[in-house]
Amino acid sequence: MAGALAEKGMNLALADIDEAKLEAAKKILAQYGVRVESYTLDVTDKEAVCEVVKRVEETFGTINVVCANAGVSGKMGPIQEADVADWDWVIDVNLKGVAYVVQTCLPYLLKNPQDAHIVITSSISGLRVYQPSRGQAMYNTTKFGLVGLGEALQVDLAPHGVGVSILCPSIVNTEISHSGLSRPEKYGGAFETNANHELANAASSGTDPLQFGRWVVKAIEQNLLHVITHPNDQALVEERHEKIINSFKNSRLITG
Ligand SMILES: NC(=O)c1ccc[n+]([C@@H]2O[C@H](COP(=O)([O-])OP(=O)(O)OC[C@H]3O[C@@H](n4cnc5c(N)ncnc54)[C@H](O)[C@@H]3O)[C@@H](O)[C@H]2O)c1
Repeated sequence: MAGALAEKGMNLALADIDEAKLEAAKKILAQYGVRVESYTLDVTDKEAVCEVVKRVEETFGTINVVCANAGVSGKMGPIQEADVADWDWVIDVNLKGVAYVVQTCLPYLLKNPQDAHIVITSSISGLRVYQPSRGQAMYNTTKFGLVGLGEALQVDLAPHGVGVSILCPSIVNTEISHSGLSRPEKYGGAFETNANHELANAASSGTDPLQFGRWVVKAIEQNLLHVITHPNDQALVEERHEKIINSFKNSRLITG
């Protein structure tokens, strides 16, 4: 997304918990000739988020597009094996981290609302559950939550003119399956079980991240709310919606 936004001439403020990844990204982004600043940031730390966002505005003078994108796979596997730290990690990063970033940026975005857009990275896992199960209940929980956050924000912010997009991709070729390797000590430390998960093998055949970023830029330009880039799971989403509609029809069975 950073590369695709840079192709459009946008200056970039990158934030990530991993300093080495920031440095690597900056090297790649140097080719675009835009200003690129980086900030080491743990999005689970609300005070640190506030501090970085303030510094970004001071440095760039304005904030226009916010991509709340940091996320982790969580520990995949049977839900009965998840402990409190497993839940805390995935909820703190994927759900609260995104909410902190969006909430903190909002006062700055509202200074130029017509030029402001919020991009929330959910997932196709925010709209459907894999069938058969792939042990992603905790991940699904956070990504469904982000769809709710994005839809609520869109209602709140439409009168101000701030756009909102919720990204719901399927597989993109990134490091997500290895996020357990850098799980912080406060959440139980590193693990690598997900590296052997069937989704890890699928990553290399996933969408190229720059291509995905270009699709996101088009979605921002067209102010699309739910951003679907991989239509292959449409049937599962339809099936889910049909079940919900049927539950409305069946409400009389339980209410008399
Ligand atoms: N790759 C896919 O197939 C896919 C599909 C759907 C959704 N997503 C979502 O896309 C987003 C980006 O993930 P990705 O696929 O690029 O994986 P990735 O692992 O390559 O990138 C995630 C980044 O988040 C950073 N991060 C982790 N914890 C953090 C924290 N506490 N504070 C700040 N940064 C932190 C990591 O260092 C990493 O650079 C995630 O929200 C993920 O859930 C990915």
